[in-house]
Amino acid sequence: MPICDAITLKHVPLTGGYRLLRLQAPAIAGPARPGQFVHLRIPGLEPTALRRPFSIYRAEAGELSILYKRVGRGTEMLATLQEGTTVSLMGPLGNGFPLTDGTTKPVLIGGGYGVAPLVFLASRLPRKGVILMGGRSAGDLLCIEDFEALGWPVETATEDGSRGTRGYVTALLERHLESTDAAPELFACGPDGMLRAVGARAIATGCRAWLSLDHHMVCGIGACLACIQKVHTPGGGTRLARVCKDGPVFEAREIVWKEPS
Ligand SMILES: Cc1cc2nc3c(=O)[nH]c(=O)nc-3n(C[C@H](O)[C@H](O)[C@H](O)COP(=O)(O)OP(=O)(O)OC[C@H]3O[C@@H](n4cnc5c(N)ncnc54)[C@H](O)[C@@H]3O)c2cc1C
Ligand code: FES
Repeated sequence: MPICDAITLKHVPLTGGYRLLRLQAPAIAGPARPGQFVHLRIPGLEPTALRRPFSIYRAEAGELSILYKRVGRGTEMLATLQEGTTVSLMGPLGNGFPLTDGTTKPVLIGGGYGVAPLVFLASRLPRKGVILMGGRSAGDLLCIEDFEALGWPVETATEDGSRGTRGYVTALLERHLESTDAAPELFACGPDGMLRAVGARAIATGCRAWLSLDHHMVCGIGACLACIQKVHTPGGGTRLARVCKDGPVFEAREIVWKEPS
């Protein structure tokens, strides 16, 4: 797992406060797999500040890209990054999504920046499926043209009804599972509530669901235990897994969700 200096090639604002950052980082882009992430040191934050994890959105020809949303101090500072600046990256980290054998129909479910690893996944899966995309409003629906360029149909839902079906993306999933004859396999990235609902639906339907968890991280390499998640073991017990190293992708049946507080 290399730590490398990456050069900022392009940094562009997208809709809804999201931004696209393209970096030249051949040592990471080459081996990167869909669902893996990079741990980025943000220039301008004090040297002792933590790195921030970001999913890999694209990786080809020595370049990798991330999509991010400005939510706090780190991403606000990241948004000021000038083209040509060098940043320190660790990666590729984490296990990534499994690239299935083509016998099941992939159903990708994401919202906001959660669609970033799903674009990369759609470009590498052996069989095309469908992407179900949700968000608060139309500005949270990203990368629609990427999926369409790859030949994947896109269905959308927004909570305010500004694009697609009004409501949660899980309503699209319900409809899809009721109407499809193909054996589905689900891949999801987004907030915990959505992942939990997708996982529950997969278990009820008897299909597999690969869920990418978004936990707070410190080291990113399995050493500090800041990102632990309780999971079931094959023997019927539980153990603590590290989201950064054992994940971030887990099959729905592995995850022991916290009781709502
Ligand atoms: C495996 C993994 C992949 C990720 N991929 C991406 C990605 O592709 N794009 C991306 O934008 N982010 C991604 N994240 C989340 C990203 O790491 C955080 O958005 C980032 O660390 C926030 O840093 P910050 O300094 O701006 O905010 P902080 O200062 O750490 O947080 C400031 C405030 O924002 C809140 N906050 C933090 N994160 C979020 C969030 N995600 N949504 C809403 N509020 C939040 C905090 O609770 C806090 O109140 C990923 C996280 C993980 C674990
Ligand atoms: S962030 Fe340190 S163990 Fe996962």
